[in-house]
Amino acid sequence: MVVGEAPGENEDLQGEPFVGAAGQLLDRMLAALQLARAADGPPARSVYIANTLKCRPPRNRNPGAEELAQCEPFLVRQVELLQPRIILAMGRFAVQALLRSDEAIGRLRGRVHRYQGVPLVVTYHPAYLLRSPLDKAKAWEDLCLAAATLEGGPA
Ligand code: URA
Repeated sequence: MVVGEAPGENEDLQGEPFVGAAGQLLDRMLAALQLARAADGPPARSVYIANTLKCRPPRNRNPGAEELAQCEPFLVRQVELLQPRIILAMGRFAVQALLRSDEAIGRLRGRVHRYQGVPLVVTYHPAYLLRSPLDKAKAWEDLCLAAATLEGGPA
């Protein structure tokens, strides 16, 4: 399971998460691990993509603490229902919602956390990676950590 930030305008229009440029990068990152969105691949290699916020903040501004709190029960329930084998938290708002941490991504990545008992790996948001391509190598390390955690056995 991947958790991002919030739908943007195109995501709102299409009713799908990550349909823009950041989503294309996310798809390529997943494909590098022979993974695909849940609708596109076999169940064993499927990734469910969710957002911390369930609707678009006005003018694409950052989510507020109150908005994150309001949407949290939906995310909690998604995790309960899906029972993902691993969660990849992308970007600081996913981290705030899931780990309740304001620490920088750079300080939280590189190790396995837990959310509702599910292993959780922190990485950069793909929209950030589009602006800061030098950090793509670190995101790849994070994906490899997530894959190795999965291969290490059941959660
Ligand atoms: N960015 C996100 O975090 N989520 C989306 O669905 C689209 C862009």
